[in-house]
Amino acid sequence: MSKIEPYITSIPDFPEPGVIFRDITTAIGSADGLQLSVDEMAALLEGEPFDVVAGLESRGFLFGMPIAYKLHKPFIPIRKEGKLPRETVGATYSLEYGTATIEVHKDDIKPGMRVVLIDDLIATGGTLEAAAHLLEQLGAKVVKIVCLLELKGLHGRDRLKDYPLATVVSYDGK
Ligand code: PRP
Ligand code: MG
Repeated sequence: MSKIEPYITSIPDFPEPGVIFRDITTAIGSADGLQLSVDEMAALLEGEPFDVVAGLESRGFLFGMPIAYKLHKPFIPIRKEGKLPRETVGATYSLEYGTATIEVHKDDIKPGMRVVLIDDLIATGGTLEAAAHLLEQLGAKVVKIVCLLELKGLHGRDRLKDYPLATVVSYDGK
């Protein structure tokens, strides 16, 4: 068991009956939990040559930024639609109900750039897949995806099989 696991709270029946919500706020709300989560995610990048960390709004920012800081790399935000002021490129993906669009500043990504993609959680993998495609569309190479948590029952890993993926804590089920 990872040392971070006890810091994550499982909330039954949120946001709807039958779903267990894995709450990271109790991890980052503890000085030890915050340090452990960032350190354990950063450790998954040991020996990996890369140029930049890209983090997904919003929970991916909570971990992407401190990981970039710790490893002395730049940080690029991938944001929800309409938030970035310069020229953007976007990707639209499906949610349970409807669609969502994420965007990145076009000039943040240079062809050949080796990007590490960070989010808090992989569920269906739809968000990370859209982000990876977006980065590739701009010529970047997604060298690794790192998340704190993985919900194995939703098979996001299968969807992201083209990318090296590392997670700290895996839960069976959804
Ligand atoms: C959550 C979570 C991941 C994504 C995982 O983000 O933070 O980004 O869903 O789901 P998926 O693997 O099925 O795509 P959410 O869109 O709820 O927004 P938030 O990060 O702003 O809370
Ligand atoms: Mg998110």
